[in-house]
Amino acid sequence: MKEIEGFSKLTKQGKLDWVADNYFEDNAQVKSEFESYWHNKPDTQKLFDEFSENTITNFYMPFGVMPNTLINDKIYTVPMVIEESSVVAAASNSAKFWRSRGGFHARVLAMEKVGQVHFIWRGEKRRLLAFFNHLKPILKADAAHLTGRMEARGGGILDIQLIDMTAYEANYFQLKGLFDTCDSMGANFINSVLESFAATLRREASIYDGFEGSEKDIEVIMSILSNYTPNCIVRAWVECPVEALGSFDDGTMDAQTFAWRFARGVRVAQVDTYRATTHNKGIFNGIDSVILASGNDFRATEACGHTYASRNGRYSSLTSISLEDLEKGHFKYTLEVPLALGTVGGLTTLHPLVKRGMEMLGNPSANELMQIAAAVGLANNFSAIRSLVTVGIQKGHMKMHLLNILKTMHASEAEVEKAKIYFIKNVVSYSSVREFLELARAGNV
Ligand code: MEV
Repeated sequence: MKEIEGFSKLTKQGKLDWVADNYFEDNAQVKSEFESYWHNKPDTQKLFDEFSENTITNFYMPFGVMPNTLINDKIYTVPMVIEESSVVAAASNSAKFWRSRGGFHARVLAMEKVGQVHFIWRGEKRRLLAFFNHLKPILKADAAHLTGRMEARGGGILDIQLIDMTAYEANYFQLKGLFDTCDSMGANFINSVLESFAATLRREASIYDGFEGSEKDIEVIMSILSNYTPNCIVRAWVECPVEALGSFDDGTMDAQTFAWRFARGVRVAQVDTYRATTHNKGIFNGIDSVILASGNDFRATEACGHTYASRNGRYSSLTSISLEDLEKGHFKYTLEVPLALGTVGGLTTLHPLVKRGMEMLGNPSANELMQIAAAVGLANNFSAIRSLVTVGIQKGHMKMHLLNILKTMHASEAEVEKAKIYFIKNVVSYSSVREFLELARAGNV
């Protein structure tokens, strides 16, 4: 166990030296390895160093693109940052499939953000309600210096509600703020406004004529935005006549059979939590890659999406298929997901590759970015279910994984080229690749 006082005060080199000297025998090698990932332009490196604390090097992720993605009759090349092989390929495959079938459709249903001031108050509830009615305009007036610029952009505070939580915890109430933060994710804006609400709440309670004794003492527990934004939500869908789906499994599965198998696959994710988790994970493969590429917060989006998936008391699929439409010969597959995204402020303006990614998308509004991210999530999910209910996931997945397996087995360039040809017709697995390399190295392939 190695400990250190004042690590954060060391220079970047000092931090790297400490880590290398204390955790690695080949410390000189580790230092030069970590340094090799520093950016060669000091200004650019300084930018990355300042994103977070105690930075000792950069961690690279692949920046890929998903071209030819038709969303609401507009073609996009979507930037995707992700480390998992086959995610970009699966999404692109799906984009290709749907491009000739009307593409993806998407619509933002609402863009409301949420924040809460959690507080303790002891007294008769109807007196708190009367106080709240008196308080509400004062909360807004006191926060006006914070909300003015957001209001000028068309956003601001949409509503403030008093929520009684005493059924769950004695004397516990909330001020729940609803916000429109336009094109920004709005975390700093919301948190600043909430802290202003909290100060006003305490001050006004202490001087309110209608309160007596301890009623004048409000204990604010905390003021913080909620990452659960069920009313900041986007719907994306694909649809076409069932017959237009074509055939699957090298022509052995017709469109009708495929559509019903697909529907059953979705149904499994609707009723089984284990499957729903994997199903939704596949959706977030696509969404997260767009979120990373656009400098948004994937932890917030994931947390929110999974909470939303449990909104009916049981964790379930974020997608649904219309069986009514299917009965009528129409395939319509829909994803509904809350996505609180921003296209201004934060990393979106600082990270050089995020800036370029946004330019690639035509500098979309938050509303448009929500639609793009949802369409990509749906694309990945469609691709996954299509494979799962037809040839199985491993065929495509392992093909994509082939290069990684070959790399871990130290295959030479020539062996990689041979393997690519050999595995067009053969099933990829760790053991089959190992066998192939043994044969190749013995000169038998
Ligand atoms: C792998 O990253 C994602 C899938 O497991 C999703 C799914 O099963 O639907 C393929």
